[in-house]
This record gives sequence, C-alpha cells and structure tokens, in this order.
Amino acid sequence: MQRSQDKPIVAGNWKMNKNARESIEFFQGFLREITEETEQSQFILFPQNINLLAAKQVLGSTKVGWGAQNCYPKESGAFTGETSPQALSEVGAQYCLIGHSERRTIFQESDEFIADKLVTLQSWGVTPVLCIGETKEQRDQGKTEEVLKNQLEIGLSKNRIECPLMIAYEPVWAIGTGDVATPEQAGLAHKFIRSELATKYTEDYANQTVIMYGGSVKPDSSKALFAQEHVDGFLVGGASLEVSSFIAIYKNS
Ligand code: PGA
Repeated sequence: MQRSQDKPIVAGNWKMNKNARESIEFFQGFLREITEETEQSQFILFPQNINLLAAKQVLGSTKVGWGAQNCYPKESGAFTGETSPQALSEVGAQYCLIGHSERRTIFQESDEFIADKLVTLQSWGVTPVLCIGETKEQRDQGKTEEVLKNQLEIGLSKNRIECPLMIAYEPVWAIGTGDVATPEQAGLAHKFIRSELATKYTEDYANQTVIMYGGSVKPDSSKALFAQEHVDGFLVGGASLEVSSFIAIYKNS
C-alpha cells in the first residue's frame, strides 16, 4: 500500500467472544479513547454477527470500520444458520473476513468456497478481507511461498479488480499461540504477496491493496512489524479484546 499515513490499519477479530453488552461497552470505551476522525478511520472491528446491529448503533456515525467474521456465498436461500452478504451489506457492514485459518481447519472451508465468498461479498459492496497463511509444518518444509501462492491463486480466481479487497497474512502457527512471526518473516511473506498481486494484476493494484499481518500481535511487537515496508496493518485476535491493548498496538507502531 502506498502509505498515506504513517500509522497502521488495526483490525480486531473478536472471534466467538463478547456478548451484546460487552460489545457495546467496548465500542463506547474505544470511542472515548479515539476521538479524532483520522484515527478512527484506521480501525476495523469484527464482532460476532449477532452484535453487528450493536456495532451499527454505536459506530455507525463514526469512521470506525466494522464487519463480519463470516458469510455464506449466496444471496439468500435454504442455508440454515448462515448469513448472506446481502444481509451484511444491508445492515451496513463494510468488511467481512474470509479464509481465516479457524474456518479452513475447523469448518473445512476450501479455497474454492472462499473464492465464491469473495466475489459474492464484492458484488454486494462489502470488502472481503482474505486471510492466508502457512502451517508450521509447511514452513518447516520450505513451502511457505508455494502455499501462499496457491491460496492467492484460487482465493482470488473470481476477484473483481474494480472492487476493494484486503489481504491478511496470518501464519497458522502464530495464531493464538503467542509465537508472533519475526519482522523479517512477516516482511518477506508480505513482499511475496505484494509481488504476486503485481504479477497477477498490476503494480498499482498491488500497491493499493492493504496487506495486514495477523498472529499474536501485541503492543510490544507491532512497532517492529510495522517497520517492514509491506506490512500495512494488523489483524488482531486476543489483544483486540481489551480497549487498552487494541489501541496500544496502533499507538506504539
Ligand atoms: P491472535 O489471533 O492475535 O489471537 O493470534 C489473530 C487472528 O486469528 O486473526
């Protein structure tokens, strides 16, 4: 990304945490800390789907972004328990995570299925945040780039370049483990992703696409990671659950 600001985009993936009351308390406490509009526009929050209306109520008139952690790639229909991109768009969600490693492993989601989600979200004006990353075993076997290339190849096979897209590089071995990637590891992976985007599309497209790092990001690791040229921001799990640590990731970078 051609950085217009010298601060990262910081996104909070709350996973299956926080009920409505806790979500609202967070949103309100967070807004009290982040008052400037320019600062607000650097943040995105991903609560549970049932709390998206609460996000709309508290964050709807602010520059804080918010979105869903998942969707089903159809407009509507007999898909009990699923959420459509159309409904997300209607409620005002600007973003939706897709391809998170927990969905790939626990729910056996394939790259092809993720590609369908991506294009359906784009057609409803919701920005997909495509999560990719290698396992420990794949890294140890020297297959990191091969894995990322493949996830990008299939995941982006239906991508509409006129629509916004964000990428999150999240090495599986770093998620929820406290084992954050070194700045060098993150920097190399992000550079590779950027160059894949440039090859697949154009240099401009690659430069405009936000690539966030995720996996055990904490306030004490964000600065060195953000110093890497191709790290544009962070997708934060555990440390996004407290207002203080979530904001500190931004402030310390
Ligand atoms: P973590 O989660 O920060 O708790 O490692 C990151 C994620 O799963 O997006």
